[in-house]
Amino acid sequence: MDSPDDAAVWRLDEARALVVTTDFFTPVVDDPYDYGAIAAANSLSDVYAMGGEPFLALNVAAFPPKLPNWVLSDILRGSADKAIEAGVVIAGGHTIQDEEPKYGLMVLGFVHPDKMLSKRGAHPGDALVLSKPLGFGTTTTALKKGEAEEAHIREAIDWMTRLNRDASRLAVRHGAHAATDVTGFSLLGHGWEMAEASGVGLRLRFADIPFLSGARHYAEEWHFPGGSMDNRLYFGKHITFAEELEEHEQMLLFDAQTSGGLLLAVPPENLPALLEDAARIEQPLWVIGEVVEGDSIEVI
Ligand code: CO
Ligand code: CO
Repeated sequence: MDSPDDAAVWRLDEARALVVTTDFFTPVVDDPYDYGAIAAANSLSDVYAMGGEPFLALNVAAFPPKLPNWVLSDILRGSADKAIEAGVVIAGGHTIQDEEPKYGLMVLGFVHPDKMLSKRGAHPGDALVLSKPLGFGTTTTALKKGEAEEAHIREAIDWMTRLNRDASRLAVRHGAHAATDVTGFSLLGHGWEMAEASGVGLRLRFADIPFLSGARHYAEEWHFPGGSMDNRLYFGKHITFAEELEEHEQMLLFDAQTSGGLLLAVPPENLPALLEDAARIEQPLWVIGEVVEGDSIEVI
């Protein structure tokens, strides 16, 4: 537990290791189908973050007894469709009754033991690459308060339901040194985990970090989930910000994400081929900074 990673990995033989992970959470959007799809993409992501390929999953669910059946079936259908897209079989699961719905997957995957990605291994000079924009926490919090625009919600859902599969395969093919997915601990929290595990510092360029269209506005209005505040309290001591960055801009980097993108540390000599390959399959990637010597994260 003292070197946290996205999933547990168990070596079976020379060529195969099992990747094991589970994740579940309360609804982040109104539509049950979207919620199921987001939960599935999020649970599968921890296998992708290890450079693995998921193949089998089980449902983990808590549903209020008064919830209509169509809602339950839509949640499970959204997740099942996402699993099919990923080539994963959902083979059963377990459900209990609870006041507030909770849903997610326990996922099994395979990874080649020599090609596994982890948070450890980032080198000074590596480029930091992100595969989805930020701002899911602030946008979905604005939604819960009835303050979010429909187009901004749709944009957030499209990104949150997107699989990290292609980004993961590109990372493995182009020899990324380290990887993690950006979820509840935010870009800075998960970035810090990578920095600490690798014994390096990170330098992020705020102007190069992508955000959802509505995120800056909702951040200015201070619609942040509790988790984002916790992230700032917990990780803040490891971060220094350029003076001109306003408080809501800093908070956007502490914003708790659901089903966020992969954060990769890529050797600079591999970066051009990675970006070229990504463009060919229309996988968005943003170069947001670099790995440096040190023991903190600097945002410039
Ligand atoms: Co993760
Ligand atoms: Co996780």
